[in-house]
Amino acid sequence: MKALEGVRILDMTHVQSGPTCTQLLAWFGADVIKIERPGVGDITRGQLRDIPDVDSLYFTMLNHNKRSVTLNPKTEQGAKIFTKLIEECDVMVENFAPGAIDRMGFPWEKIQAINPRIIYASINGFGPGPYEDCKVYENVAQCTGGAASTTGFLDGSPVVTGAQIGDSGTGLHLALGIVTALYHREQSGKGQRVECAMQDGIINLCRVKLRDQQRLAHGPLKEYSQYGQGIPFGEATPRAGNDSGGGQPGSIVKCKGWETDPNAYVYFITQAAVWGNICDLIGKPDWKEAPGYATPDARIDKIKEIFATIEAWTMTLDKFEVMRRCNPLNIPCGPILSMKELAEEPSLRHTGTIVEVDHPERGAYLSVGNPIKLSESPSDVARSPFLGEHTDEILKSVVGLSDKDIAAAREAGAI
Ligand code: COA
Repeated sequence: MKALEGVRILDMTHVQSGPTCTQLLAWFGADVIKIERPGVGDITRGQLRDIPDVDSLYFTMLNHNKRSVTLNPKTEQGAKIFTKLIEECDVMVENFAPGAIDRMGFPWEKIQAINPRIIYASINGFGPGPYEDCKVYENVAQCTGGAASTTGFLDGSPVVTGAQIGDSGTGLHLALGIVTALYHREQSGKGQRVECAMQDGIINLCRVKLRDQQRLAHGPLKEYSQYGQGIPFGEATPRAGNDSGGGQPGSIVKCKGWETDPNAYVYFITQAAVWGNICDLIGKPDWKEAPGYATPDARIDKIKEIFATIEAWTMTLDKFEVMRRCNPLNIPCGPILSMKELAEEPSLRHTGTIVEVDHPERGAYLSVGNPIKLSESPSDVARSPFLGEHTDEILKSVVGLSDKDIAAAREAGAI
């Protein structure tokens, strides 16, 4: 049995953040009914299209395992249908700009009055405060949540990361809020409101940087490479390039083929516990005992030289060979894997983390499957729905409309 079988979700989400949340819940077996504007649908259906007139990968990769209904709750008949859907669903999820659901005529108080057991979950850019009315996209959240100010190199401008920590990260936070509220409802019988602001989600992911902000008051951050280079710290947590966040010096170093392959690099950590193994591996056995190299503190001002020596060794080897040699010696390292390499990696296909999905219009494409594996509740990946593919089916089986009612709603532009 799928873990969330029997849970019905009224999915008012669009773009990326909300859809990642409801897609996760759908993978766990929830019946996710995606409401889309008649004739238009989720804007991502048409964004970054690779094939003309076919739902984009942007849309298909974020809306698996859902059913699509076109419905305009701003029309009279649409509002009635929407009310019935609120009655019949366990959870409602939305990530419109602040106030949009209220303007549709369905503020939280009304939703709660219609169905006191419903869990109403929202993503906003910001929580209550000076920016609460702002519209927010991924990089805005990364910049306002502390990620950009702490990412990049000390001598460069702030940098946003390729991981969608604002959108998909907040979707993940919201999914946890929803299942927590569902668990609470099991005990209390009551629904509740779940809110997650993208800025808050990013701040949660940047926890160690707030830790470092406070440590700065008590002296320099010795594990940041700028300390060893004698560069003074300012007032805020600085950008640390590729320095390891775990308190052990780390760096990205070149491997064989770097001249032509932009991903021929490996992340290498000079973990203190295996310093002896590292010295043997890179051909510097004398560094094990040499004053100035034998202890982590003594090495701080030589980090650049040490990584240059490590790099001279890694440049003679393929990045996978570096990993093969380091792993048995417990030296932490990670080859820089490209999206191409990940797409072709057989073990990721085997676990269902990368899946091939068939689509009647676009043919087979790759997607990311459920990264969370439950031993008793398998999850499969089914293609995303066409716009309004399930409108009639859901209006009959969930809302209880007749063919005549459906025709009238269609005539009125409600669906
Ligand atoms: N039928 C009729 N109207 C519909 C509808 C439907 N089924 N679904 C949505 N709409 C309308 C809404 O009522 C709203 O209209 P209104 O502003 O006149 O009240 C409008 O469509 C949606 O508005 P909005 O959310 O402002 O869309 P946008 O494209 O202008 O902004 C975002 C997009 C993402 C910036 C904004 O939704 C937002 O800030 N969301 C919260 C943060 C977030 O999730 N950001 C990450 C996105 S990946």
